[in-house]
Amino acid sequence: MAHQWRGVIREYADRLPVSESTRVVTLGEGGTPLIEAPALSRLVEGEVWVKFEGMNPTGSFKDRGMTMAITAAVEQGAKAVVCASTGNTSASAAAYATQAGLTCAVLVPEGKIAMGKLSQAIAHGATLLQVDGNFDNCLDVARKLSENYPVFLVNSVNPNRIEGQKTGAFEVVDALGDAPDYHLLPVGNAGNITAYWKGYREYSQPYTNPHPGAPAGELPAVSTRTPVMWGFQAAGAAPIVLGHPVTDPDTLATAIRIGNPASWEQAEAARDESGGLIDSVTDEEILAAHRWLSAKEGVFVEPASAAGVAGLIKHHGLGNVPTGKRWVITVTGHGLKDPQWALRNADGSDVEPQRVPFDVVAVAEALGLS
Ligand code: F0G
Repeated sequence: MAHQWRGVIREYADRLPVSESTRVVTLGEGGTPLIEAPALSRLVEGEVWVKFEGMNPTGSFKDRGMTMAITAAVEQGAKAVVCASTGNTSASAAAYATQAGLTCAVLVPEGKIAMGKLSQAIAHGATLLQVDGNFDNCLDVARKLSENYPVFLVNSVNPNRIEGQKTGAFEVVDALGDAPDYHLLPVGNAGNITAYWKGYREYSQPYTNPHPGAPAGELPAVSTRTPVMWGFQAAGAAPIVLGHPVTDPDTLATAIRIGNPASWEQAEAARDESGGLIDSVTDEEILAAHRWLSAKEGVFVEPASAAGVAGLIKHHGLGNVPTGKRWVITVTGHGLKDPQWALRNADGSDVEPQRVPFDVVAVAEALGLS
């Protein structure tokens, strides 16, 4: 029988804050591929999978949380939503708000927003304000705006975002049959590591949905265990690693250019409860992992999305990676969001296309076929 993936709310309704009467706002997010990464698997002598979140409708994992946040906002009578963003949240909020018929305002830091993400927010008709400050300043303003004016905040400090994003962990377990040994992912505002850890925990024990109107009764555990969580910040924006906020965060991985993560404590809890770590990776390590993913695994991501892979390669080099394990790495956003990095050679020079005349012999020669 024909079946189309119905989006994360309908697929996981029994574990989300919705009831039968909820009007679901969805673009069909989730159900993203879990792809085996053969070159990484060979490197670590184990089984490495990447959860390719660039395959969501707006090209990042944010859609999992946004379907839930916008659905809840509509249920509560919202007319307008606001978010602060390094780009992906704004693209996602703008798309889901449009589908729901809400107005959407986004606050982005000065410069440093990838062009693809800006275009998305504008294409979907959001009011985009560039704030004279960094992401942390934007979030501060967005929070105050939502406290004092009739707009709903859809950043990951909104618990509905975390609820939606926890479905990433559910999908991994559903695909593999159990939780992996390790789960790795980039950390910026720290909502996603919080969400994955919540998802893995809830799937590993009997669960009763606390939401009023949700089906009553206890659901059985789905997994037998939870993974060790490894999170990676960019070295120039690594407040959790340093143990203090960074006032002027800087990294080419603009999506995670964040100096004071909103879910700081929850990220530390995920780390500590799972026996994991939160570490940093340099911009060079991020770009090398970005190149590894595209050139060796066939997966094109934006730079920030490669931070988890950079972390695995780094810790393999440090001798911290045991063999024979199963690793899942969330790669958070699509390479087409911010494609310029692929057009740089490893030495920093620009990649130039080789020019040829429109002549089959010349083309064959250029391809080394003659
Ligand atoms: N990867 C990408 C591609 C992101 O866009 C983000 C966050 C992260 C990783 C980090 O996730 O914040 O949950 O720890 N982007 C936010 C935004 C901040 O505004 O789009 P996190």
